[in-house]
Amino acid sequence: ANALKIGVAGLGTVGASLVRILQTRANALAVACGRPITVAAVSARDASKDRGILMDGITWYADPVEMAKQADIDVFVELVGGSEGAAEDSVRAALVRGLHVVTANKALLSHHGVELAKLAEEKGRLLNYEAAVAGGIPVIKTLRESLTGNNFSRIYGIMNGTCNYILTRMEREGLSFADCLKEAQRLGYAEADPSFDIEGNDTAHKLSILTTLAFGCEISADKIYLEGITNISIEDIHAAADLGYRIKLLGVAQKTESGIEQRVHPTMVPLDSVIAQVDGVTNAVALESDILGELLMVGPGAGGEATASAVLGDITDIAKSRPGAQEVPVLGRPAHLLEPYRQAE
Ligand code: NDP
Ligand code: HSE
Repeated sequence: ANALKIGVAGLGTVGASLVRILQTRANALAVACGRPITVAAVSARDASKDRGILMDGITWYADPVEMAKQADIDVFVELVGGSEGAAEDSVRAALVRGLHVVTANKALLSHHGVELAKLAEEKGRLLNYEAAVAGGIPVIKTLRESLTGNNFSRIYGIMNGTCNYILTRMEREGLSFADCLKEAQRLGYAEADPSFDIEGNDTAHKLSILTTLAFGCEISADKIYLEGITNISIEDIHAAADLGYRIKLLGVAQKTESGIEQRVHPTMVPLDSVIAQVDGVTNAVALESDILGELLMVGPGAGGEATASAVLGDITDIAKSRPGAQEVPVLGRPAHLLEPYRQAE
């Protein structure tokens, strides 16, 4: 059968894990998908770094945009990061060229997701982004494909592994905020600029994507009330515990009579609630809807392997895709039919 040829831009925490998995599980993936998946091209800045990847038969590109425009590939996988620059330009170039795109980049989607979805839909190509929200938890597919027809009233959860890891270790081990953050960076959980994690922007990016999928409106990250965890001290954590609560950084989006309310802030949750038990890098996303009721999805929220698992799922979906699969709307409904975002008063 015809191999699906992929190009991976970005060989950091997620990209290197992904390529290693694709190489070590090539036979099993070929059986599962009915065709081999081959890594035909890769791109990163430093060509001399050993990333544990076999480079035989793989073309190296220093520039992801050049790879998107020139490489002999069917799928462009963007794991560079950032809402502008190389990530944005390469994804746009790949879609314009008619490639399928897989990305884990919530910052990019939060800022440009609607235009990119329109472009993918005009071109009849898939734009898959499972890893962009809550790491390895398959929440995008659940909202995009499985729960069509539900009317959502509220979505909320712990959507940043770095912050939850910091809060957990501060509470359990009395470690300082700075030491916990350093460890989260070492483990590959944090963003390249970790202020996006600790100041709440990353949660806001993810929340804005879920809001669009759940409520059928345009993505609007700039309308989110935002407060991160930088001011949370060990004393605050202990004071909350004395009152029977634990502090979690939550993202919440709900429908009100006047529009949609979106907010990200540290929240005191009762110690005996399920969400209070979600610790370390684990994420949890709750979806409340009229037909289904409440669904709570809990799982690994960051890290190379867990994130690569979600990216891999997006790639294998393309490898297995039946004719017409590209007609599954990128943002839950066709991008030109999204409603304007209406903010709660
Ligand atoms: P890293 O910073 O570890 O890796 C980024 C990669 O992109 C590196 O290989 C880097 O090259 C390459 N790169 C950066 N800028 C350029 C450029 N201008 N041209 C060519 N290559 C470039 O990031 P992560 O792997 O952690 O994250 C990748 C994406 O996945 C981001 O969008 C992130 O938000 C998202 N994500 C990450 C998760 C995680 O747990 N880490 C979880 C979910 C999503 P070099 O190695 O040579 O420096
Ligand atoms: N920096 C992000 C986090 C990566 O800690 O949750 C996963 O999106």
